[in-house]
Amino acid sequence: MAKAARASADAVIRVRDLTVGFGDHTVLKEADLDVYRGEILGFVGGSGSGKSVMLRTIIGLLPKRAGKIEVFGTDLSAVEEEERQAIERRWGVLFQNGALFSSLTVLENLQFPVREYLDLSQRLLDELAMAKLEMVGLGPDVGYKYPSELSGGMTKRVALARALALDPEIVFLDEPTSGLDPIGAGDFDNLISTLQRTLGLTVFMVTHDLDSLHTVCDRIAVLVDGKVIEQGPMETMLASQHPWLKSYFHGKRSRVNEKRRGG
Ligand SMILES: Nc1ncnc2c1ncn2[C@@H]1O[C@H](COP(=O)(O)OP(=O)(O)OP(=O)(O)O)[C@@H](O)[C@H]1O
Ligand SMILES: [Mg+2]
Repeated sequence: MAKAARASADAVIRVRDLTVGFGDHTVLKEADLDVYRGEILGFVGGSGSGKSVMLRTIIGLLPKRAGKIEVFGTDLSAVEEEERQAIERRWGVLFQNGALFSSLTVLENLQFPVREYLDLSQRLLDELAMAKLEMVGLGPDVGYKYPSELSGGMTKRVALARALALDPEIVFLDEPTSGLDPIGAGDFDNLISTLQRTLGLTVFMVTHDLDSLHTVCDRIAVLVDGKVIEQGPMETMLASQHPWLKSYFHGKRSRVNEKRRGG
């Protein structure tokens, strides 16, 4: 999408002054974040900095102490249950730990979120689930397997298919390529990018993967000390003088240095 010409009205997720904590541990401290329609936003920060907490708070799984979260222009804490559910239907989530139900087949896992919202015949449910499997590049045979029979990469794809089950407008991905080898991670990035384009998705992606940040993310937001200290395209990250950003994007493992080393 045209990155420059984005009005703030285009923010499908708008977080302001968000404070979230557990006991006397404040994780997010008046954090601000925007996710624009149709973009892939990469969300980065140190381990334990609160990336998953941010994701879980936006989708309403964790309570906030202060601040405001709007999704599709609606403050979810201010609406009736029915409206909240209607909005929840418009997003899908791939959680950090995959979390497929081990006692259900892949097809049954994919049908689980659909059953919650729609009353469809088993035949239609099967067709829908098979279509989602195909969308993430898996054959129909995978549908009859149990999660324990899948490789790490297949598990991620099934989890992505499940996130897409209800044809969401936003998908939340929490470290979707962690644990994959570089080729598998690259394939997964391409899949996310293709799906984003063909389905017009807005993607909120927590990731530590510098390759993903360089290749598929339109913008990046950086969480340090409970605040989003920078949001913008990769060029903004590379130009930043903030010490955390400098060591993250110009450190030993960064691409910039690989190129400098001729790698
Ligand atoms: N339900 C909870 N109860 C208490 N503390 C929690 C809970 N969830 C998260 N935390 C704490 O909040 C902090 C941020 O956790 P979070 O899972 O968001 O980190 P993260 O940035 O996603 O890290 P990683 O990159 O390792 O996944 C951590 O100190 C964690 O222990
Ligand atoms: Mg996390």
